[in-house]
Amino acid sequence: MKRLLSFVLFSALAVSVLADEGMWIPMLLGRNEADMKKAGMRISAKDIYDINNACLKDAIILFNQGCTGEYVSDEGLFLTNHHCGYSYITSHSTVEHDYLTNGFWAMSRSEELPCPGLTATRLVRMEDVTDRVLDGVTPQTTEGERAAIVESNIQKITAAAVAGTHYKAIIKPFYYGNQYFMYVNEVFTDVRLVGAPPSNIGKFGGDTDNWMWPRHTGDFSMFRVYADKDNKPAPYSADNKPYKPLKHLEISLKGVKEGDFTFVFGYPGTTQRYVTSDAVELAANIENPIRIDLRTIRLKHYNKAMNQSAAQRLKYASRVASIANGWKKWQGETQGINRLKGVEKKKESERRFQQWADGKAEYRDVLPQLHKAYERLRPIEVELTYFSEAVRASDFMSRTRSHRELANASTDNEAADMVAKLKKSNEKYFSDFAEHTVVDRAIFIETFLYMWKAGYAPYLGEQGTSADAVKAKLEKTYDGSMLNNSEKLQKFLDGYNTGKAKKLSDDPALKLYEQAYSLAYDATKLSTYRSAYADIQRLMRSYVKGMMEMQPDVNFFPDANLTLRVAYGHVEGFRPRDGVYYKPYSTLQGIMEKENPDIYDYVVEPKLKRLYNRQDYGRYGYLDPVHPDAGPDMPVGFIATNHTTGGNSGSPVLDADGRLIGLNFDRCWEGTMSDLLFDPDYCRNICLDIRYCLFLIDKFAGAKHLVDEMTLVE
Ligand code: ARG
Ligand code: ASP
Repeated sequence: MKRLLSFVLFSALAVSVLADEGMWIPMLLGRNEADMKKAGMRISAKDIYDINNACLKDAIILFNQGCTGEYVSDEGLFLTNHHCGYSYITSHSTVEHDYLTNGFWAMSRSEELPCPGLTATRLVRMEDVTDRVLDGVTPQTTEGERAAIVESNIQKITAAAVAGTHYKAIIKPFYYGNQYFMYVNEVFTDVRLVGAPPSNIGKFGGDTDNWMWPRHTGDFSMFRVYADKDNKPAPYSADNKPYKPLKHLEISLKGVKEGDFTFVFGYPGTTQRYVTSDAVELAANIENPIRIDLRTIRLKHYNKAMNQSAAQRLKYASRVASIANGWKKWQGETQGINRLKGVEKKKESERRFQQWADGKAEYRDVLPQLHKAYERLRPIEVELTYFSEAVRASDFMSRTRSHRELANASTDNEAADMVAKLKKSNEKYFSDFAEHTVVDRAIFIETFLYMWKAGYAPYLGEQGTSADAVKAKLEKTYDGSMLNNSEKLQKFLDGYNTGKAKKLSDDPALKLYEQAYSLAYDATKLSTYRSAYADIQRLMRSYVKGMMEMQPDVNFFPDANLTLRVAYGHVEGFRPRDGVYYKPYSTLQGIMEKENPDIYDYVVEPKLKRLYNRQDYGRYGYLDPVHPDAGPDMPVGFIATNHTTGGNSGSPVLDADGRLIGLNFDRCWEGTMSDLLFDPDYCRNICLDIRYCLFLIDKFAGAKHLVDEMTLVE
């Protein structure tokens, strides 16, 4: 009986990496090929990644350090999300030329807008370099020594790999440093904005619909990479030519239906699939609630301001998008973890691991030690969370931080450089101070007050002090600081030298920051934190190694680490809660249903409405073969079971033949715990249907010349 039981348990473990879960390494995709073909794929692993021939990977771009893009023409034209290009679209926008609100379409190459600082990276090749990276590491090597050896080996290997080329190489750890891969990249730096739909298409539904399904966001923008006369990366120059990629994606107009095979090819940023129950508890039930509450405060004040004027909307749009994005995701994540009983589930698998590990010298202490390390880490981690979400919440405090650096400058020369920069940024800051100070002051006071009430700012007053007294103190700090007095501050900075450091440090803002900082970044705490963190890294390395030894038949995928990956699954609806079933696709009709001229996020462009009313979708519409007389529909979005995360935004969603059918841009809220725990019943990625994207470029924007560059397959 006992043996049977353990056999049953063991088989349950063997399939513990679930169907559809996983972000796979392109170079090792051969291991998944049979499974992918069974799931419906008609191309081969080599069509996706091949070191000797142009393949799909050559069409994929790492967009800056946080999104994905893909070439769709042989002249360097690529697609990514609207929210990925957002800061570039905003930075080219003014109240007079408001591309963010009205959209932007370059009607000729000369109208394409340079985006300084933006990079587009292509993976040239990857390589397993584990043996070389760990050369010199023995079981006796301490963690500190290991880090030094690894670092120095990495320097040597990468330098050798790119010697005599224009490539750049990086090496990243996998499975907590059980394995290392090198990535040789080609980094392009002349990238220009080509097109973006108006905000009420590209961000339709705004932060209200963000992370949600059914979704109707036309979340795409277009850029072009330029290269020198040899087709090599070069800084911006008017003489540069459109880059000729080795491969661009073919686009399928056939559309998607439920059950279709899809895969996503892109750059997922971070997942924590293998962490223990302590880590899940810390993230979901301790840190997330703190961050959520503190961001609620910030969002309340920014949103109020944004509703007051177009100028304020532009000013805060980008920062609100990013604050709200985490805010909402963490809510879904925490709910998802608790719905799945994620902490208990982890504990259960830890019990099984421990059973296996007992008696094995290498593994038996791993989990108990991990637990101890988390006990040490937790209180400090919480304090640091308060520091980043409350102390750093206001511009007032981030400006304080930079002025504090000035106060700490050791020489007059060093100070002079800082003063020049500060004076410039202060000038910019004060240009709309009258409006902004209302928002920033409120955020400063409310976030500090929240932190004080939670017991993390004792310097504002011990327990028993009245909240009103604390508030008064904060108001006095804000109003009494010269950092909020343009004239006084700029004058003070004018003749600044280190002799004035004392006066600067005595400013109430710097004093408060100092108190908050020395509490959170106290030296003893910091060293405890560092050692606990290092222990966790080391122990996780053993834990993951042990898990793999325990289940030799399971193909473990490595956590996301902003390297190129393939995730595959199917177009599929789901049941988010009792009584509700979500279909896997949305249409333009849903945009009309959501239309509300009084709510910024739900305003529908008149031109889009006209096209809808005339069902004027050109070749991009969908005609139901059963009811052709009903006229065509315009597909907008679809969902699938591909395992994705932040960084996958803009990734191509490809069909069984490797053709582009959509752009990944989000996940469904009920499944946002997938960074920690994947559940095929709830986890869905959200994609923009490529037909809607093409319809917008061609019929809506009248930029058919861009579609003409692409390779469309009917
Ligand atoms: N949730 C998506 C992602 O994590 C889209 C975020 C941008 N959109 C927004 N409304 N803030 O990137
Ligand atoms: N929206 C995310 C991104 O920007 C994707 C996700 O988190 O699912 O990468």
